[in-house]
Formats: sequence, C-alpha cells, structure tokens
Amino acid sequence: MRIGWAITGAGHFLKESVELLTELAKNHEITVFLSQSSEEVLKMYGLYERVTEITGGYYKELATDNDQKFSYPISGRFSLGKYDLLIVSPATSNSVAKIVNGISDTLVTNCVSQAGKGGVQTLIIPVDMELGDVHTVLPSKLELGSCADCKECEAAKKCLEGAIISKTEINLLKCVGCGKCKDSCPYGAISEGKIVTIHMRELDIENSHKLVLMEGIYVLKHPDEIKKHI
Ligand SMILES: Cc1cc2nc3c(=O)[nH]c(=O)nc-3n(C[C@H](O)[C@H](O)[C@H](O)COP(=O)(O)O)c2cc1C
Repeated sequence: MRIGWAITGAGHFLKESVELLTELAKNHEITVFLSQSSEEVLKMYGLYERVTEITGGYYKELATDNDQKFSYPISGRFSLGKYDLLIVSPATSNSVAKIVNGISDTLVTNCVSQAGKGGVQTLIIPVDMELGDVHTVLPSKLELGSCADCKECEAAKKCLEGAIISKTEINLLKCVGCGKCKDSCPYGAISEGKIVTIHMRELDIENSHKLVLMEGIYVLKHPDEIKKHI
C-alpha cells in the first residue's frame, strides 16, 4: 500500500503513532508529512530520528512545512490519487479545528483537503475525543523542587544542545529528548516522560465530532485501531 502519514504537533499519542509508523514502513511505501510544530515536538520527545530513519526515496520522503513553502505542491499527489490512504496521527486540536472549517494553510491541512478532492480515504486520530481528563506524557522537565542549584550544573554540562541555559527551565526548542540530562543530575531534578492530567475543552471535542461527519474521513480513537484499516 502507498500511504501518506501526517504528524501534527501533539505529544499525546505521539510515541504510539511513531511506533506504528515504523512497523508499517517495513511493508508499505510511506511518505511522512510533518507540520512545523510536529518537527519540534518530535525532537522534544526524542522521536525525530526514528522518523528520519524510515524515510528516503520516491514516495518515501519526509515532507515538511518549510520545504513545501506556501502552496504545498507535494499535497497535489493526493488530488491525483497517488496514495491509497492518508493517516493523520496524532492530530492536534489546532489542525482538527482547521480541517472541520475547510482551512488549508499548512502541509497537513493541505494533504487532508487534497485527499478529499482526490477521493483518498483519510484516517484521523484526534487527541481530543472525549470530554473529561486525560493522562498525557511530558517531555524532559526541570523539577525546581528537587534542583539543588549546584554551582556547576551536571545536567547542563551533559547537554550537547545547550538546552539547559538557566537552572529554571529546559529550552524545549533546543532539546532533542536524549535523556542525558536526566541521567547526569545527582539530585534527580530532571523528569522525562512525566504523566500529567489535562482537561479536554468542549470546543475541541465538538470539532473532533464534526470530523466524523466529513466525507471520506474516518475518525479513530487510538493509533492501535489503524491496523484494521490497512
Ligand atoms: C511538548 C508539547 C506537547 C504538545 N501536545 C499537544 C497535544 O497533545 N495536543 C494538542 O492539541 N496540542 C499540543 N501541543 C501544542 C501544538 O504543538 C500547537 O498547538 C501547534 O501550534 C499545533 O500545530 P499543528 O496543528 O500545525 O501541528 C503541544 C506542544 C508542546 C510544546
């Protein structure tokens, strides 16, 4: 099967999505489409390299918002029916809101609209599906309560990206999620993969439900459900 897999900038369901993408790439031709924020967020969770490793070659490209400028020519492949399937996983509340309102101003939202025009089935896994609280995982974080404010910060010394510039916060835009800071702090002041509870907004849930009514779009609750549709 030839598949387009679009990733947006959500931490929720990100690891599960990348794991499934890696597995499917062994037997399918997959082009990966990254939103600008997903490039950043993938790095924060240490997953960017895994995505680059499975890409390369015609129809196996890693397409990004930056490469595709403002008219997103690569998304035209969907309107020409060059793909059997488009998967958007995970889908942020931002991208879902745009899709249900017919807005196409990013690589991912252009892929979805062109897939609709080309009759390519689209599976979307929104992160905001049901009202209530959900548990989600954070990237690396400096826990001030445990920080001993050492004269020489071992974590900062170990960070090759220079992401720990002050002893208050990690600059996530520089972080590549390698975890070296966590291992080097003798006080365990760096957490990685901490589980937090976030509240789902009604507006985002409503938008996800609007997706269900859209032609050619199938909404799934979890990346695990994707396999049944391949
Ligand atoms: C560490 C991190 C995790 C995030 N996780 C989520 C998430 O789970 N769901 C969400 O809707 N937005 C999340 N965001 C915010 C999006 O990245 C942001 O809204 C972005 O503008 C979405 O752009 P996109 O839809 O084009 O990818 C996260 C941001 C960061 C820094």
